[in-house]
Amino acid sequence: METVLSGIRPTGNLHLGNYFGAVKNFVKMQEENNCFFFIADYHSLTTHPKPADLHGNVKQVLAEYLAAGLDPEKSTLYIQSDLPEIAELYLILNMNAYLGELERVTTFKEKARKQPENVNAGLLTYPTLMAADIIIHKADKVPVGKDQEQNLEMTRTFARRFNRMYSQDFFPIPQAFNFGEQLVKIPGLDGSGKMGKSEGEGNAIFLADDPKSIRKKVMRAVTDSGPTAANQSKPEAIENLFKLMEVVSAEEVVKHFNEAYNNCSIRYGDLKKQLAEDIIIFTEPMRDRILSLSSDDAAISKAAKIGAEKARASAQKTIREVREIIGFRPF
Ligand code: TRP
Repeated sequence: METVLSGIRPTGNLHLGNYFGAVKNFVKMQEENNCFFFIADYHSLTTHPKPADLHGNVKQVLAEYLAAGLDPEKSTLYIQSDLPEIAELYLILNMNAYLGELERVTTFKEKARKQPENVNAGLLTYPTLMAADIIIHKADKVPVGKDQEQNLEMTRTFARRFNRMYSQDFFPIPQAFNFGEQLVKIPGLDGSGKMGKSEGEGNAIFLADDPKSIRKKVMRAVTDSGPTAANQSKPEAIENLFKLMEVVSAEEVVKHFNEAYNNCSIRYGDLKKQLAEDIIIFTEPMRDRILSLSSDDAAISKAAKIGAEKARASAQKTIREVREIIGFRPF
């Protein structure tokens, strides 16, 4: 069985784009792999030295991933800062991470440009912390987006370097987990591009949105004046609404509106009403679970505890071996 690991930033709420782009795959992945999912709260400090509501954000993310279907019994779902072992491995890896290579990382250069007043050592060594996250559990596969590929390459460099330095075949060299065909890109409601929370108010539908605001957002989605000839190709804004329909609506419904589009009888108002109702049906069970978990501190605490225990057992084993290999031995 392969060990798969993914880090989750404790920012924002899950939207449909996150759900279909990653979370749904995580839920499936946990059935067949030894999965570790963690909330990267140490990493937050590199950009937010005093996060406004770190605890509240971590809780919300935990509640939403649980609500979306991550099962603390099947996978190991934990909070990064519950594992001091990660900080210890980070310290050790930093001793063999070089200024030159860290300075060349694109994400570092970008963040340094964005926050020139706070180019801290944590920002520079973000890739060593991420490497520690990954190799502490000897992960084989890491699902990463394009923007994280270089960080994963750094992880491979650090893992190989450790193995070479101590002449051990100790850390596996982690590979990117490629979802390939399964990866669904969810468009936003503003007529262009993908769904994202930073794309402006109303562009994203969150799993925790109530029916009223879902209806409002969908009814305001960008459209045009409609097709003027049979079987026209769809402009992006319209194509986007159909793409959303394809993931939440029944096949016949999509077919019905496609036919209406092709014979120019379509009324976008009808399409949007249907789309909104289907999104509500799809998200409502998750929303209910998010709401009940958010007010159930015992359930959150139990999930965090189970996760921390499982993750720590795995991390402690690695750290024990690393210390032994380096020569930190008890007298
Ligand atoms: N850097 C990742 C991001 O910005 C989050 C992350 C931290 C991560 N540690 C990780 C992802 C380890 C995968 C593995 O999205």
